[in-house]
Amino acid sequence: MKNQHKCNPRQAAGECAAKLVENGMVVGLGTGSTTAYAIKELGRRVADGLEIQGVPTSYQSSFLGAENGITLTTLDEHPEIDIDIDGADQIAGFTAIKGGGAAHTREKIVALSSKKFVVVVDESKCSDILSHPVPIEVLPFALKLVIKQLAELGGKAELRMGVSKDGPVISDNGNFIMDADFGRIDDPDSLGKKLSQCCGIVEHGIFTGVDAVYIGKKDGSVDIREA
Ligand code: 5RP
Repeated sequence: MKNQHKCNPRQAAGECAAKLVENGMVVGLGTGSTTAYAIKELGRRVADGLEIQGVPTSYQSSFLGAENGITLTTLDEHPEIDIDIDGADQIAGFTAIKGGGAAHTREKIVALSSKKFVVVVDESKCSDILSHPVPIEVLPFALKLVIKQLAELGGKAELRMGVSKDGPVISDNGNFIMDADFGRIDDPDSLGKKLSQCCGIVEHGIFTGVDAVYIGKKDGSVDIREA
């Protein structure tokens, strides 16, 4: 199914996915530039009378949600979320690599707490095989051990460095972020499970179990893929 949309591909995908949200829903507010369009669209609908509560996945989405008039809530108050809308750095089928904004730990917690997990991307993010470096949130105390374990799994890991900040990126949870290049990832499910077993890794950016993908295209249309 395609929806015609007059704006840029990320905006098209984000705004189109925001239409899935219905009155009374608890909504996961993802992080990143594509999701920001969904959050702004939800803010416009709230101004028109839509009643929702949002669970932010980062300071970014928390600030943006509040600025756009969305009532914020927590997983403690709403452990089950109706729908989560979030971006991705790369997607193949219904598996995504996330964490370009260093928010993948909270993003995964929110995604796994949601009845429907919707990924919004522009078409440049789509691939047949995943190969994007995998963001890894690392407990700072375990940095060297994590680098060793990633190397044993075939990953070349780099500590993500700050822009407009000297030294490493610090996540919203107070941890380091590494980007681990595994080349072509033929079995993301298996790699994800191995990464989850590494001591010192807080969370990795491989997300299986995406329920729907909204792909914004250059011509303004949106391809919708349901799992
Ligand atoms: C943040 C993320 C983002 O969703 C991902 O990086 C995509 O961002 P954008 O829509 O700006 O390209 O995973 O941790």
